[in-house]
Amino acid sequence: MLSTNPHAFEVTVSAPVNIAVVKYWGKRDTSLLLPTNSSLSLTLSQDDLRSTTTVRADPSFERDRLWLNGKEEDVTKNKRMVNVVRELRALRQRMEQDDASLEKLSAQKLHVCSQNNFPTAAGLASSASGFAALTFGIAHAIGVADKVSRSDLSRLARLGSGSACRSLFGGFVAWEMGSRPDGVDSVAVQVADESHWPDMEALVLVASDARKDTPSTAGMQLTVETSELLQERIRQVPQRMQDMKQAIANKDYDAFAELTMMDSNQFHAVCLDTFPPITYLNDVSRAVIHLITAYNALFTGDGRSGRGKKGYRAAYTFDAGPNAVLYILKEHVPEVLALVNRFFPPPEGEGERKEYFGRAANFMGSEN
Ligand code: DP6
Repeated sequence: MLSTNPHAFEVTVSAPVNIAVVKYWGKRDTSLLLPTNSSLSLTLSQDDLRSTTTVRADPSFERDRLWLNGKEEDVTKNKRMVNVVRELRALRQRMEQDDASLEKLSAQKLHVCSQNNFPTAAGLASSASGFAALTFGIAHAIGVADKVSRSDLSRLARLGSGSACRSLFGGFVAWEMGSRPDGVDSVAVQVADESHWPDMEALVLVASDARKDTPSTAGMQLTVETSELLQERIRQVPQRMQDMKQAIANKDYDAFAELTMMDSNQFHAVCLDTFPPITYLNDVSRAVIHLITAYNALFTGDGRSGRGKKGYRAAYTFDAGPNAVLYILKEHVPEVLALVNRFFPPPEGEGERKEYFGRAANFMGSEN
């Protein structure tokens, strides 16, 4: 505690990264961050990739301040954060109006300090865990976290970054796009909790930890404006969402793997169909795709092409960057890891290659 003020309150929370298997790409409303399609992700274990945020509400503070990864940012210029904080305060204000005995926490200024334990903006979903932790932390600091549902909080996190709404839950999480113009039904819901499929593991292969060239927000709007292929994707996603939910409910790895890879491929095809084109995959990413395809073919039988094969061993997916995430069943992790190390040996002198493991696990944790 930094001050002895009895009205000061400080909380530290952390939020894990989520990696989508049905991707969100495109907004129908850019200020409310309403998507053009529903999406579905797995929340990874907090032990590996997470954002940790400390929020302090103190009557002595004169203005809101924000530090990201140790550097102070001009909070007034961060429109999305301003929106999230405004909505959370409005929620608290309504509670204070309904119950006059409540402390006027809606009026208190906040100091927020957030940090990631992985490279920011390298396509590793830093905005997802970042805004999820921020929303959850502020909600705690101003006394609304326990008063509203997680889905309600996810709606507020969505105003910070679309994919952030999914990090409010552990396990398998859908962001249902909703249909209302005000976005009240555009929220995250848990499809299955983290105990449902404990054998599912994620292996994150960092091909590059450089900042991505085209940020998701700008990239997806250019796609919405220029890609006709996106319209076809929007038509297909509802069926894919249903199939993916079914695959998860049945713990059907073959269906899960096929849908995951096809969705990633389609997302990157849509990026290429954007004009000018957006290319997130690099030579290493493409080599990973070919390696996993050849590896799977050893087990899926007769080498015939097409869908509905049995025996998949690994499923790749790529977000808005070159880094691969492989979803693998636990029993196959050692072999896949050996394969990856054999074909992508760590560059000499650079020490250990950076892989992160995650499980489809863990809720966001409040530490204080
Ligand atoms: C490729 O959530 O970062 O990771 O809503 O503009 O902040 P904004 O975009 P963001 O986009 C994530 C895109 C993705 C796919 C996904 O996570 O579903």
